[in-house]
Amino acid sequence: DAGKSGYDHFMLKEINEQPRSLRECLHGRPQELDGTVSIDELSEVARPDRVHFVACGTSYHASLYGARLFRERGVPATAFLASEYDVESIPIEEGTLVVGVTQSGETADTLGAIRGANRVGAETLSVTNVVGSSAARETDHAMYIRAGPEIGVAATKTFASQQVALAMLSSALTGESSGEFIDALRALPDQVQSILDSSQTRAIADEYVDADAYFFIGRGYNAPVALEGALKMKEITYKHAEGFAAGELKHGPLALVTERTPVISLLTAESSPEKMLGNVKEVESRGAPVIAITDVPELIEHHADHILPVPETHRHLTPILANVQLQLLSYWVANRLGRSIDKPRNLAKSVTVE
Ligand code: G6P
Repeated sequence: DAGKSGYDHFMLKEINEQPRSLRECLHGRPQELDGTVSIDELSEVARPDRVHFVACGTSYHASLYGARLFRERGVPATAFLASEYDVESIPIEEGTLVVGVTQSGETADTLGAIRGANRVGAETLSVTNVVGSSAARETDHAMYIRAGPEIGVAATKTFASQQVALAMLSSALTGESSGEFIDALRALPDQVQSILDSSQTRAIADEYVDADAYFFIGRGYNAPVALEGALKMKEITYKHAEGFAAGELKHGPLALVTERTPVISLLTAESSPEKMLGNVKEVESRGAPVIAITDVPELIEHHADHILPVPETHRHLTPILANVQLQLLSYWVANRLGRSIDKPRNLAKSVTVE
């Protein structure tokens, strides 16, 4: 039990460490005086013409979020699964920055993609937690997420720090920022703390521990977090879980929705809430329990069985807060099922084979 600081699992300890790890990630980067973001280790990096993210697992979900931020800030960006990125079939044009997102810096698939990009002469950057890791050494530039060591196999605090790092990276490299964005970044650690202090996920987990499957839906910036919520759930509970961009529900997955499949719905003010509400009504009418993660509870209260609130923030940062509720929900379901939470069967913290 050494190192668990009184928590039953490293995962719960690491979830609870997020206010501190996010403070570390932010330290010295958002500039209150002029409303910009500055990342010391990247002072040489110019605004790219386009960005390719390469990553696996949870880091891929962070990359989907990062790519959307770059696109909204005027730089075309795509997130690729590192294992599917081959520079022959995905040509790298002049001016492309290839960004490897990898907590450990040692994932073989991600290193393979970075090496391919290096081979064709692309500029490369890693976003990693480990100073001196292979990814940091083999890229032209490295940005550190400063989350501290993560022992639980399921990535939690490192995902939050990746999201915050990519929000800052997109701002620093595009020059797009605002006082409101800077203030919101700085407020995040306290807001995460408020969710940790008040989350009702344990009781909800108890209620739905026998579910057949769990579905996670969200739109826009919330869509990658829906994928991540489902990945976390399957990793540590061994139960069937799937995440979708909510618009896809009607194109197939709706056939699986019953009164035994809770639908965890990310409905926030800035990510098409009216359309999300339509999706929620679709599952509600099939009898599925609805658990809403929301900053606009008044919009969904008549259609949700449970509401897990998130505080208001800048619209780019909402998914960072929403994800904390999802982490806790998976944790408490796995805890109720007595799973091996810190070391789930068949999984490794860092996968060094392709
Ligand atoms: C493994 C871990 C995942 C992680 C993925 C990528 O599969 O179990 O939690 O997201 O590797 O790891 P990385 O270190 O590259 O972020």
